[in-house]
Amino acid sequence: MDDKPALLGGDKAVTLPQEDMFTWPIVTREHEEAVLRVLRAGAMSGLEVTRQFERRYAETLGRRHALAYHNGTAAILGALYGLGVGVGDEVIVPSLTYWASAAPVYNLGATVVFADVDPDTICIDPQDLERRITPRTKAVVVVHYAGMPADMDALMGVAAKHGLKILEDCSHAHGALYKGRQVGTFGDAAAFSLMTGKSLPVGEGGILFTDDREVYERAILFGHYARHDEITLESLKPFAGLPCGGYKHRMHQLSSAFGLVQLELYPRQMAEIDRAMNHFCDLLEKTPGIRPMRPDKASGSTKGGWYYPHFKYVGRELGGLSLQRFARAVRAEGSVCNPGCNKPLHRHPLFTTMDVYGHGRPTRVAGLDETARIEAYVQALPVSEGINACVFEVPWFKHDRPRLIAEHAEAYKKVVRHHALLLDEDAEAETDVGGYSSFFRAPDPS
Ligand SMILES: Cc1ncc(COP(=O)(O)O)c(C=O)c1O
Repeated sequence: MDDKPALLGGDKAVTLPQEDMFTWPIVTREHEEAVLRVLRAGAMSGLEVTRQFERRYAETLGRRHALAYHNGTAAILGALYGLGVGVGDEVIVPSLTYWASAAPVYNLGATVVFADVDPDTICIDPQDLERRITPRTKAVVVVHYAGMPADMDALMGVAAKHGLKILEDCSHAHGALYKGRQVGTFGDAAAFSLMTGKSLPVGEGGILFTDDREVYERAILFGHYARHDEITLESLKPFAGLPCGGYKHRMHQLSSAFGLVQLELYPRQMAEIDRAMNHFCDLLEKTPGIRPMRPDKASGSTKGGWYYPHFKYVGRELGGLSLQRFARAVRAEGSVCNPGCNKPLHRHPLFTTMDVYGHGRPTRVAGLDETARIEAYVQALPVSEGINACVFEVPWFKHDRPRLIAEHAEAYKKVVRHHALLLDEDAEAETDVGGYSSFFRAPDPS
């Protein structure tokens, strides 16, 4: 076997068939039957199955109220309204996330303040968060990014000190633990995307959790008009009947039926993924140039279903080999290696110049009083700006198959072993790495 990198004409490291290693979701007969039952009953727009799904998920998570949505973006919007976010408020959001953690803030007449991320957790940095608090700050969106649990002890401390609401965006971290406790159980509310690519998929869908009856009922008032009979608070009752947000947020029951089955299967699937991914990380733990990213075992924190798993890249340990060329070489070996992650949001024109609704000034400051200046909101965030050049996405194994996983690990090791050969034609640079979506990625040109 030719040990030369496959990119330079050698044999590939990954030779075994992948089979269904990356197939997701795993659609079983039970899913099909559950979906067919709803279809045959003509109950696609009902509430019965959705309520069962909500009850079951709320029990699993240990939260009092659950409200299902047609997608995670809507769950975030509903949660923000539920938490009382409105005109003139600031909501602090990490810049490193999918846009749906931030963009719905505009719909409420509020504005986004971006905070930087911690380079170790790649989640919102509690110290940077605290620096960005102003008298306008109402809430913080904490994203457990790429399966990494955010530092909830520190974040809850900052929120309590300043009287802020916390919304956990758990869309990347279904089942993940922070110090032994499930993410999604810390904040005043939590929202999860359940779309097809997520660790706990239902097709398209989202879900909001809270223990606070008022948050729950406000979210119902805002976008679930068919459930206004659940409203008990006297302050909200007069407005029941029409969705005050003008939104219709109901989940499709084909999704909730799929979700009910998925909830049962997920713990076993998650355990297998966790074993497979930890095995892969163990094999590469001491490899120069790369650092598996996972919480410290002793902390009791875990990555749940390991959605969108990433490692760190330390190019200087590989003679300065560019991340682009490194990733191309690993892919040539037959493994998965995508440089970067989500592009930081704070430099996008949506958050700098764009006047979305015709206010005559950028939407970023449109809901604030006249003294607010866009310049004060457009700030540098060094960690978020640099992160795409030093992380890469690794294979997301859905099964614990040691021989195949060992081959994928060998693909990485081989490229590291031969990095000097790859330096020769390394004309690549990390100029435009990452994207605004991890799911609908542009096809790789290599
Ligand atoms: C961090 C994060 N938040 C929110 C969402 C929005 O969820 P959905 O796509 O279901 O609307 C996503 C989805 O990709 C996400 O990754």
